[in-house]
Amino acid sequence: MAGGTVGLRRETGVIDPAKFAEEAVRRITAEVPGKAIIAASGGIDSTVAALLTERALGARARAVFVDTGLLRSGEVERVTEFFRESRLPFEIVDASDRFFAALAGVEDPEEKRRRIGTAFVRVFEKEAEAFGADRLVQGTIAPDWIESGGALRDTIKTHHNVGGIPSDLRLTLVEPLRDLYKDEVRALARHLGIPEAERQPFPGPGLAVRVSGPVTPDRTRRARVANAIVEEEVERAVAARTIARPWQYFAVLLPVRTVGVLGDNRVHGEAVSVRVVESIDAMTATAMELPRALLARIAERVTRELSGEVVRVLYDVTDKPPATIEWE
Ligand code: XMP
Repeated sequence: MAGGTVGLRRETGVIDPAKFAEEAVRRITAEVPGKAIIAASGGIDSTVAALLTERALGARARAVFVDTGLLRSGEVERVTEFFRESRLPFEIVDASDRFFAALAGVEDPEEKRRRIGTAFVRVFEKEAEAFGADRLVQGTIAPDWIESGGALRDTIKTHHNVGGIPSDLRLTLVEPLRDLYKDEVRALARHLGIPEAERQPFPGPGLAVRVSGPVTPDRTRRARVANAIVEEEVERAVAARTIARPWQYFAVLLPVRTVGVLGDNRVHGEAVSVRVVESIDAMTATAMELPRALLARIAERVTRELSGEVVRVLYDVTDKPPATIEWE
């Protein structure tokens, strides 16, 4: 099945960013006669979609950034700063209670994505109503709908912004990037002057898919701390040229209880899996070979900074396929 996915891959660099941007602005103008809100996650895809929409619609567009409670450490501050600097009107909505309530008792990854998709849509519908918009601009790219079953018989995983959208959506979707792959979006991001065009991708459902098993505020906090440590340590190693920049690097909190030692006592804690992969487009990926010292440092920090909560750190050596990049 994954081989079929690879077969859909086009040659990279086939778009001319300037031409694509011009054409996208024309299409957005044609597709949005009134007002639109933009689903902005702070990631490259939705930021590119947002800037193109602003070019097309000006004040008729407003970006909405949802704090789901499932974001990475420092993300709200980073996104706020970016939008303040850009000319784009934006709004930050704290909806973490809604998201944790929607996820309560849910362990199935596909169900998590559906619930998250629905929660996002309800927030956007509310914001659209207040703004008087009837269009929702999303930064959906080709792998999102391909992996959600758009071009294949089987769904690999439902991306929250595709299969996770409820059928009773009251807004018309506008998806200017739906034919692009990540490397093409990055070329476009560089063309539009978006900083951090090389930033690693982060899944729209956020830490919910990196908290394997039940998603509680407490378990999400642990995943957030572990993710921040992996990011810091890998970025430090990249800056020191100890390793090449990986495609993605993150931590996953596993749904297991395992035994550790704290002082003189045996304790029960959780386990974290570290995932660092190389890839060119996320359709396939290779687990990266990391220096032992880097892995040891990550394990030491995770178990110290989450002392008694996480007592074991594993390194995931599986390629995609057969595994996917994210655990869920
Ligand atoms: P997988 O895990 O399918 O991931 O190998 C491929 C790429 O997609 C990201 N990913 C997602 N992105 N919504 C997103 O916006 C999702 O539900 C989702 N699931 C995975 C993943 O981080 C990787 O870059």
